[in-house]
Amino acid sequence: MTSTFNPEAFVRWFRQAAPYVHAFRARTFVVAFGGEMVADRLRFTQFIHDVNLLAALGIRLVLVHGARPQVEAELKAKGLRSRYARGGLRVTDEAALVAVKQATGTMRVEIEALLSQALPNSPMAGAQIRVASGNFITARPFGVIDGTDLQFTGLVRRVDAQAIARRLEAGEVVLVPHIGYSPTGEVFNLAWEDVAQSVAIALKAAKLLFFTDRLPTDANGKVIGELTAREAGALLKKGELGVQTTRALEHALSALAGGVARAHLVSRRVWGATLLELFTHQGVGTMITANPVEQLRAAKVEDLGGMLALIEPLEADGTLVKRNREVLEREIGNFFVIEHDGVIVGCAALYPFPKAKSGEFACLAVAPEYRDAGYGEQLVQACVERAKALRIRKLFALTTRAAHWFLDQGFRAAEPAALPAERQALYNWKRGSKVFVKRI
Ligand SMILES: CC(C)(COP(=O)(O)OP(=O)(O)OC[C@H]1O[C@@H](n2cnc3c(N)ncnc32)[C@H](O)[C@@H]1OP(=O)(O)O)[C@@H](O)C(=O)NCCC(=O)NCCS
Repeated sequence: MTSTFNPEAFVRWFRQAAPYVHAFRARTFVVAFGGEMVADRLRFTQFIHDVNLLAALGIRLVLVHGARPQVEAELKAKGLRSRYARGGLRVTDEAALVAVKQATGTMRVEIEALLSQALPNSPMAGAQIRVASGNFITARPFGVIDGTDLQFTGLVRRVDAQAIARRLEAGEVVLVPHIGYSPTGEVFNLAWEDVAQSVAIALKAAKLLFFTDRLPTDANGKVIGELTAREAGALLKKGELGVQTTRALEHALSALAGGVARAHLVSRRVWGATLLELFTHQGVGTMITANPVEQLRAAKVEDLGGMLALIEPLEADGTLVKRNREVLEREIGNFFVIEHDGVIVGCAALYPFPKAKSGEFACLAVAPEYRDAGYGEQLVQACVERAKALRIRKLFALTTRAAHWFLDQGFRAAEPAALPAERQALYNWKRGSKVFVKRI
């Protein structure tokens, strides 16, 4: 059998993942899933391996789980019927509560066993991950809906965030089931989505991941990769998402409103979805953010690292002129950047030549994976706006590789003589850049 291992692809992937590894260390992620996920044994084992990997990378992990199908099975085995009130909420009577305790207890042991697995040749080899569980959730009864008392079905009343944080600090993975306890000593059956949302808010989590059966798709059936809270709200109103996804998305939105930075919907049917969603640019799920993830703004000194990562390869292949790093830092005020989810993916500068009432549009770069999305055009627009505010009448650019791009943006070809005198003196005839001018 010939090996399909591609060392180049592997190294490229590993490097692509590096910024995420840095960004995620010591951050708190809440990963939430229903009992359906645990029932699919093979997939679940792989998922737990990925969880271990995340823990090994220094991410503080809280796993929240449900047990709807398992509770259902327990009741069925006892010849009992599940009862639901309006909105699909289970009526948890005494008998159902026994089934909940049994199903949840069994699941806890099984999850702990999987997290403890450290067989040689498995991704868990050498892993020493401790799991903590406990009475972190205080609950209260849901109450009565349309005359039906939901009995032991409850709502989260309080999360003991300090206790969870202490366990995370000790390097443990925290497992929180869909169970809560009341000060009167009662046990309540909770919706795991409610628990996940409350835990994520209480811990001010950086991410909340919901595993679900279906993801939101566009008109072509393609998974929608990113949604703002407002777009997600509009999608919910359409009512086309299915019960599980609707519930997950509603709780994701509440979590964002409560201060959680990012929520993700991830399909439990996609192999390796956790890693693909977290460590690749394109992801495989739907990321929901309070505000748009991409932002065009004036550059700051802290952006220099990200800007260099973008322009260095272009300097190396001669597309951009090499800039002195100190000068770049001094002139950072001339730059705009486009930030996408915390990563600098585009930059450009406007260098004013006030005497000639003109300005140079320079150092334009967009990260290869983000090209053809209009970022280049947005950067020109930003520079045009700034130039107008400075009473600049003419924008010029020098390029060796992107002539047609500038034509598309409304620039016209010109001679070096069209440059302001100060700039003409610096024109590098050997480089032979083409000159483009745009009246604004
Ligand atoms: C040039 C560059 C900034 C464009 O960024 P972008 O965000 O992809 O640009 P936009 O999305 O606004 O425009 C994309 C369009 O420009 C075209 N285009 C991209 N690069 C081009 C180039 N070098 N020459 C001609 N056309 C180009 C694309 O084909 C696309 O056209 P289409 O919409 O008809 O398919 C980007 O390709 C880049 O960083 N290139 C390397 C650095 C560089 O050349 N900088 C300019 C030096 S002054």
